[in-house]
Amino acid sequence: MLFDGLKAQAPDALLALIGLFAADPRSNKIDLGVGVYRDETGATPVFRAVKAAEARLVETQPSKSYLGPEGDIRFTELLQPIVFGASADPSTLVGIQTPGGTGALRLAAELIAAAKPRTKVWLGTPSWPNHAPIFSAAGLTLATYRYFDQAAQAIRFDEMMDALGAADKGDVVLLHGCCHNPTGANLTPTQWREVAEIVGERGLVPLVDLAYQGLGGGLGQDSDGLRQVMDAAEDVLIAYSCDKNFGLYRDRVGALYARVRQKARADLILSNMTALARPNWSMPPDHGAAVVRTILESAELTAEWQAELTSMRDRIHAVREALAAGDGNLLAPIAQQQGMFSLLPISAEQVGTLRKEHAVYMAGSGRANLAGLTLKTVPRFIEALKAVR
Ligand code: LMR
Repeated sequence: MLFDGLKAQAPDALLALIGLFAADPRSNKIDLGVGVYRDETGATPVFRAVKAAEARLVETQPSKSYLGPEGDIRFTELLQPIVFGASADPSTLVGIQTPGGTGALRLAAELIAAAKPRTKVWLGTPSWPNHAPIFSAAGLTLATYRYFDQAAQAIRFDEMMDALGAADKGDVVLLHGCCHNPTGANLTPTQWREVAEIVGERGLVPLVDLAYQGLGGGLGQDSDGLRQVMDAAEDVLIAYSCDKNFGLYRDRVGALYARVRQKARADLILSNMTALARPNWSMPPDHGAAVVRTILESAELTAEWQAELTSMRDRIHAVREALAAGDGNLLAPIAQQQGMFSLLPISAEQVGTLRKEHAVYMAGSGRANLAGLTLKTVPRFIEALKAVR
């Protein structure tokens, strides 16, 4: 029979943590697993700006009829100045709405494969565990280099530059725009400049994954690297997610943009994006993008959203500072890193003991979603870490 040929698949290790954590009866459990922001009470509330936009939508939405494979066009337009800056030339930018950042990455991978099958994609490791499967699923060729030394908590920038120096014209380079997942270790502005230079010199195509804009150094700072790369490269792809910075996780809100240098190429790329979306999801889910559009159409809601984002960023930063202050030996680098994640210098076995004996849940790699900690739980977490070392 057809399905006898299937092999059983293990559940996704990161997503499986959601169920494992929920099933744990211990009242002092700490969830540092999947990348979801939590506030000082441990909750992941809906943004006030989102609630207000949803109320407006319920009142005013005239129809739920189809919008087409590009989704909500106003949504992708209104996001552009936030992603690319107010001075970006809109005639060099095309984009379509996608189901989350994952949808944007998958569409980018298929666009690349449609242009040139088996294109090589350079991926620094470790990376988000879904990056490699997405590129492989689209038939692209993966080439990896070491981005981060977990024990030393340092970016291996020389290895990154060596890898990019060996890349061929037309190869794709996956770059984390900000809040590197899983390490929290981002390129400095000087390193971004060097990366941009080599991208320009060698004719590489950057694919920038921007899934946490606003949660690192602020909306502007978090896209500075992207802008440096845009200045240097011929064409750039940007996979964007609103899931975290608007807290719309399960609504799956994202966009794939292309910035082209030759304006004539813009329509060509757009037509391919929509053609590739059609046999995938046909049309993206509307609600979350309509919410983001409603927020960005209103100065008042935009200000409220930005204030909420700022308080999230400040809270994550305070947790990072508290961790570094609480255990200067092991956790000092955490204060310099940004975003929700850090990749702690601990083994998979130690992660297992943390879960079993201390009810602390994190990915087997040692990735901790620090937004799952509060200033109250930091001391207990540090104690648990000490106990397993
Ligand atoms: C994460 O890395 O935890 C998030 O991006 C959620 C996911 O889809 O893996």
